[in-house]
Amino acid sequence: MELNGSKTGINLPYYKRKPFFKEVCRKMESKVHVLVIPYPVQGHINPMLQFSKRLVSKGVKVTLLTISFEECLRDKHAGSVAVQTIADDQQEKNRSMEDRLINFPDLLSQKLPEIIVKQRNHGYPVSCLVYDALLPRVLEIAKQQGLLGASFSTQSCAVGTIYSSVYEGKLRMPVEAPSVLLPGLPPLFVCDLPSFVSDLENNYPDALELLTGQFSNVEKADWIFFNTFNSLEKQVMNWMARKWPIKPVGPTIPSMFLDKRLEDDRDYGLSLFKPNSDACLKWLDSKRPSSVVYISFGSLLALREDQVAELAWGLKRSNTCFLWVVRESEIKKLPNNFVEETIEMGLVVTWSPQLEVLAHKSVGCFLTHCGWNSILEALSLGVPMVAMPQWSDQPTNAKFVTDVWQVGVKVKADEYGIVTKEEIERCVREVMEGEKGNEIRKNSEKWKKLACMAVDEGGKSDKNIEEFVTKLVCSSNC
Ligand code: UDX
Repeated sequence: MELNGSKTGINLPYYKRKPFFKEVCRKMESKVHVLVIPYPVQGHINPMLQFSKRLVSKGVKVTLLTISFEECLRDKHAGSVAVQTIADDQQEKNRSMEDRLINFPDLLSQKLPEIIVKQRNHGYPVSCLVYDALLPRVLEIAKQQGLLGASFSTQSCAVGTIYSSVYEGKLRMPVEAPSVLLPGLPPLFVCDLPSFVSDLENNYPDALELLTGQFSNVEKADWIFFNTFNSLEKQVMNWMARKWPIKPVGPTIPSMFLDKRLEDDRDYGLSLFKPNSDACLKWLDSKRPSSVVYISFGSLLALREDQVAELAWGLKRSNTCFLWVVRESEIKKLPNNFVEETIEMGLVVTWSPQLEVLAHKSVGCFLTHCGWNSILEALSLGVPMVAMPQWSDQPTNAKFVTDVWQVGVKVKADEYGIVTKEEIERCVREVMEGEKGNEIRKNSEKWKKLACMAVDEGGKSDKNIEEFVTKLVCSSNC
């Protein structure tokens, strides 16, 4: 039987096998307790939960704090991580999910101090708050309570640099030049910037404030973690590291898909949607290697109905097998008869076990909205991409996918902002069949290796996590 440390077969938790950690861990097991606080949406919970699991594997006690979701875990465990839900009153429960998300920072400011006190009274004093970068007020609470504070960004360092430049007034809005040059980044056309910076017509001032607000007190944070890895964003991280104590700790993908050092860490473990796992995997098993295009637009995005139709007919035209995630709330946008007409070549599901799908040998390409988690998952599993960014950080992520890491192609929208069926067909064929596809596959393999190296023993992300743990131990002993 293989336990933690499956590579060596040594029957001990990973952290206890390292002489360096032995003494430290002996002292810390009962002492170091970290509270991890993601913004409660899937794309933020997943990476912060994975980071938590890495901390637990190195001997730290971690509690992940979230709001109660109807169908979700309540005061339980997600893998090795304890989950605590914030006790919310009836008034809070009566709000729509959207309102609860908007109200989350206020709820947290109100409840967090008493949660910290309760943990202390129960014999589990908290040493450090690891908070979503979008929740900078948590740092103030950490400091008031005499705790350490670490910000965690679920977006790329490149995107962080753009928002920090806006916050500091170095990138002025509206952006008037056709392209901008920012430190550590390649020249970016306006369309490569996050939509909240570039798209004034459909501007979302609240979202921009939330995203730039992460830099309002960043200089006071004891650590600044990014879900990225060193080789992926070297230049921009080097530049940012001159100003702030930033540390890459990614990619935060379940260990069994990367270094395989954490026993049983096969999925994220806290899903707000129910995956159609059996249907997806059985269907994929019946397909030829690298013959399927997988399509998903993440947990939040809603496409226009005419865009869904173009995508649907584009997939049909490409004559390629497809597995398409259309969330329950989006299903009504599918064209009439589409599912029936494509039954021989496609499967539509409301949620997939995305990591298992991307790791499946039948998948040859991922048509993605370029959410940062999806990008890191595709890179970690070596899957070529068709980038179809919509908003937020996705245009910038897409720029890196195509021009910097060269692991995919990007669709072009027409003058009405629609990606036509012909364009979908062209891009899918280019990646699945074209000459360019071979180059992209080679590059994807390279990034897959580098992603694994970053989190494996001795990799930069692994070292950063160890260093964090060591400092926590030292500070709780002093
Ligand atoms: C959003 C933003 O797009 C992202 O850039 C930001 O940094 C975090 O919040 P989201 O739009 O949901 O997230 O996309 P993404 O970042 O890709 O996260 C989606 C997560 O859901 C991924 O971890 C993915 O594996 C998972 N997923 C998605 C599934 O497990 N099954 C699915 O069918 C679709």
